[in-house]
Order: sequence, then C-alpha cells, then structure tokens
Amino acid sequence: MKIAVAGTGYVGLVTGVALAHIGHNVTCVDVDLEKINLMKQGISPIYEKDLENLMEINKERLNYTTNYKEAYQDADVIFIGVGTPEKEDGSANLDYLYMVLDQIVNSLKKDVVIVIKSTVPIGTNDEVEIYINNKIKSGIKVMVVSNPEFLAQGTAVHDTLYATRIVIGVEDEKAKKIMTTLYEPLTKEPYNVPLLVMDRKSAEMVKYASNDFLALKISYMNELANFAEKIGADISLVANGMSYDPRIGNKFLNSGIGYGGSCFPKDTKALYFSSKLYNSEIKTIGACIEVNENQKIILFKKLKEKFKNLENFQIAILGLTFKPGTDDVREAPALVNAKLLLKEKVIIKAYDPIGVSNFNHTLFNDVSMTNYKEQISYYNTIEDTIKDCQAVLIMTEWPEIKEFDLKKYESLMAKPYIFDGRNCYDLKNISKYAIYYNSIGRKVIDNCKEKISL
Ligand code: UGA
Repeated sequence: MKIAVAGTGYVGLVTGVALAHIGHNVTCVDVDLEKINLMKQGISPIYEKDLENLMEINKERLNYTTNYKEAYQDADVIFIGVGTPEKEDGSANLDYLYMVLDQIVNSLKKDVVIVIKSTVPIGTNDEVEIYINNKIKSGIKVMVVSNPEFLAQGTAVHDTLYATRIVIGVEDEKAKKIMTTLYEPLTKEPYNVPLLVMDRKSAEMVKYASNDFLALKISYMNELANFAEKIGADISLVANGMSYDPRIGNKFLNSGIGYGGSCFPKDTKALYFSSKLYNSEIKTIGACIEVNENQKIILFKKLKEKFKNLENFQIAILGLTFKPGTDDVREAPALVNAKLLLKEKVIIKAYDPIGVSNFNHTLFNDVSMTNYKEQISYYNTIEDTIKDCQAVLIMTEWPEIKEFDLKKYESLMAKPYIFDGRNCYDLKNISKYAIYYNSIGRKVIDNCKEKISL
C-alpha cells in the first residue's frame, strides 16, 4: 500500500515511521525544507526515543519530500498529522488542516482514503468530506476516515506500535476494509493492538474524551493536594491509598504544578468551547481548565508568601520542559513562572538537560519579555545552577534532578530553600538535611538553620 503522511511533527513523523516499520511504503511530506533535508540524512527534527533508530532500519521504505503533488497523486492512503493549535477563544485552529486538504485536492488523480490523525473538533471529518467532494474532479472517490492518535511525547514510538487501541471512525465499507488491512500487522503478534471501528463522530470524541478525562484526573488530584496541605494530610499517601481500587487505577494520580504540553491544555479548551457552542457546557472540563491555570503558578505563590519581596533574589529553576523525556516547552509551567519571576526582578539561573534552547526561544518570543534577557542564564549542571541561589524551584521531574545528591543543596546554595512542584524527594530522606522543603500536598520540612530575615 502506498502511503503519504502530511506533517512531520510528533504525530505525522512517528505515524509515518511506524507504518514503514510494519511494511508499508511511506512518503512523509512537509512544507519545511530544512526539516526534510534533516530527515533525508536520517536525523529526526524532534527528540523522541527510538525514532532515529527506526528511521534507519526502515529507510528503504521511507521517503521525505516537500513535493506534495508527487506524494499525494498516487497514494492509496493519505494520513494528515498537522497541528491544530488553539485560537484565542479556545477553539481549534484548522488552518493547517485545510491547507493540506487544498494541496490534496490539487494533486489527486485516483481514489484515495484521507485519514485525519490530527485532533479535530467533533464533526470535522464530516465537514472535510463535504469540502473535498465539492472541490474534487468528478470520477474520483475520496473517503475520509477519523483515526485519532494516543501517543504521548517521550514514548511516542512505543505508544504507536504497542498502542492501547487503534480507533477508526469510518462511514464507508471500502474505506473500512482498506484501514483494517493497513493496520492488520499491528493487530497481530508481537503488538496485539485492539482495533475498534466506529462512526466518525464517536471516533473524534474518543480522543477528546480520553485526554480530557486524564486532565480531569490531574486537576482533581491537584485540588486535593492543595486541600491536603491545609489540613495536614499527605497527598502521596492519599493517592497510593486510592490506587488500590482497580476502578481508579494507579496512573495519572501525581499532583504537581499542573498539566502542560501540546495536548491537554488545547484539548480541554477545544472540547469546552465546542460543548458551549452546542449549548451543552461540560462544566467539569471548565473547572479542570481553571484549576490547572491556578496550579501552574502555585510555586510562585508559595515563594511570594514566604519571602514577600523577591527583588534581586537569585533563584534556580530546575527543569524547563512540560514533562521529562522531551525538549517540548509548550504550555510548560516553567515558562509562566519564569515570566512572573523576571517581572519581580529576580535573577534566574536555569537548568534543563535538553529543553534550554526551546525554552529561551519561547520565553523571548513574547515581546513583552525582551527587556528581561539579562536576568536569566543557563547552566549545564545542577551544581552550577543552584550555586549561591536563595531558592530552587523544581518544575520538571527529570531523573537527574530526582537522583541529585541532596547534601549539595545544603552545601552549594546561599540558602537552601527548595520549592518542589513535582514531589521529587522522599520527605523522610530530605528531613536529614538542613533544608527548607516545600512540595505539593505534603507537609513543609523546615530544617533550614539560617532563617531568611523577612
Ligand atoms: C497526552 C496523552 O497522555 C496521550 O495519550 C495523548 O495521545 C497525547 O496527550 C496527545 O493528545 O497527543 P502528552 O501531552 O505527551 O500526552 O503528555 P502526558 O504524559 O500525558 O503529560 C501531560 C501533562 O500532564 C504533563 O505536563 C505532566 O507533567 C502532567 N501530569 C501527568 C501530571 O501532572 N500528573 C500525572 O499524574 C501525569
């Protein structure tokens, strides 16, 4: 089967490489020539475990091009994995999707299945089919299929090959047959992925419903954590106690500084927006969004409460990405906290194993931050970052941060005040040191010998 994939971001590229891995010939299309040239040399433009390795193993079946016409005109199936970022009002921006659809319309010479992998508002697949059929030459049959993805960054390759499920939303028998044949290798050993076939709208909704449910779980745990702090309970013990109930499970119960990334923030807002549009407001999602916005700045609030005036404080930020295992900083809590700190005239020393360049670029892409460039510097080691600082904010639970020698906070910092947004350290362990430690939903450890004068 000849396959073209539009877009070479996390979804598009990983999908293309995975499909090549199960035996299909795949052409990955992108408008960005620089990215295409990198991939032709076997270099992945995104950081994702195992991706370059699979690009190498399957290079015979993988092509990369900016020439969409050539790629689309004789494809049997065209996957679309372009971004659907959020607009100001929270709705999804479908400009990239429609740009690709126009390119497809201009290229097609034979019947084709168009598979929408991008996360799109419920009903978009139906609209796309009408849009295409109004534009396409008569005699060509275009079948539109919804096939949402469930990959998480950092584990994208594994999540695609060993997916929890493949969801196919289809209204056409021929398209259903093509899609089940295409995915057949993944439904067998060693992958054994369940394949669920349903109508298009339900398939589109599975994606939002799943992501938003996970986001809800996180916001719920974060609200509980804030309450636990007030009444003196320990949220990690509470979460552990909950997790023994198989109906609850033990995943996504970690409280912290809120969810970030390119998916949960966008998908909660898009579903909420769409529900209001249909006069059927999903109130739980509205609350989830609000809770998350507040939670993202909880460390900043704690810091202000403790020290009141932060002017000329030297503060370390450990972890800049929205989660470990990725260089992605989209909606990362570190960004909003850094902005607030810089505006308070704080000197920031920052560390991240791979996210520094994306972080710095995104932070100063905001023109209102241009004047603060001198106040932030980046370091290659945690030791250099925390040296002489009066406080540390932990924003991402990278293994190197979790495994850091606690004694060094005590010895290297000017004053060892740690505000941990990811509960990286065991309370018993940290109590052995002369450290002030304020985490999420757990009691504050205050063993700092030298108290800061307020
Ligand atoms: C998420 C979903 O997990 C994927 O299933 C989905 O396919 C993907 O979105 C998508 O729509 O493309 P991702 O955004 O890569 O994947 O990251 P997650 O691992 O889900 O983490 C999202 C955020 O939740 C992170 O900021 C993380 O720190 C936070 N989180 C996660 C918590 O605060 N607590 C938890 O217990 C788990």
